[in-house]
Amino acid sequence: MKPARPAFADDLNASLQEAFRLLADAVPNRRSPFHTPTLASLDDTGAPSLRTIVLRGFDAEARRLRFHTDRRSDKARGIACDPRVMMHFYDAALHIQLRVAGRAMLHLDDAVADAAWEGSRSSSRMCYAAPDGSGAIVQIPPAAPQHSEIGRPHFAAVVIAFHKLEWLWLAAAGHQRARFIWDDAGNLTADWIAP
Ligand SMILES: Cc1cc2nc3c(=O)[nH]c(=O)nc-3n(C[C@H](O)[C@H](O)[C@H](O)COP(=O)(O)O)c2cc1C
Repeated sequence: MKPARPAFADDLNASLQEAFRLLADAVPNRRSPFHTPTLASLDDTGAPSLRTIVLRGFDAEARRLRFHTDRRSDKARGIACDPRVMMHFYDAALHIQLRVAGRAMLHLDDAVADAAWEGSRSSSRMCYAAPDGSGAIVQIPPAAPQHSEIGRPHFAAVVIAFHKLEWLWLAAAGHQRARFIWDDAGNLTADWIAP
């Protein structure tokens, strides 16, 4: 028996809603492949740079994604030079890829960063407690820090305001690729595009 076609098949609006549903689920769901997307940015020389991050927040209404990082990292330096970023998500079981383009804003010592820090577990805070910043050359691989709370001065919340989302669903009956673009006023243009 053929597997049932999902409700989003052949439906632009439903495909976007499914993308948003998967992003919302990925924030709390550590088993979702969308929980750990790849972030593309430009480094401080303008060269492309990719890395895995943990998706910490998604606001469908505001079209915003959030992740956390060490403000001493190369990615933080690159984003400060050029805020254009893209996030890549792929779920092999669902055969769905998302590419989300936007502009990243670094939040260091403001209310957004404070709320993100407050919402972080102690084990996550530990990442920022190392005396050497992410990317620094060290004599030996450092042991895990003992006190998570001293990491706050190194912590940054990064919020990505996105204006473009590309959906790709691989299906035996025909791959479906769609592009969603919001203009500055928030008006959406949605198109099917050739896969
Ligand atoms: C599963 C996984 C999750 C990660 N999550 C984060 C994260 O949320 N934030 C972060 O800055 N780095 C995270 N990293 C580490 C980055 O991939 C990267 O190695 C590090 O941040 C240095 O990147 P940069 O030199 O581009 O700044 C994660 C790595 C893995 C493998």
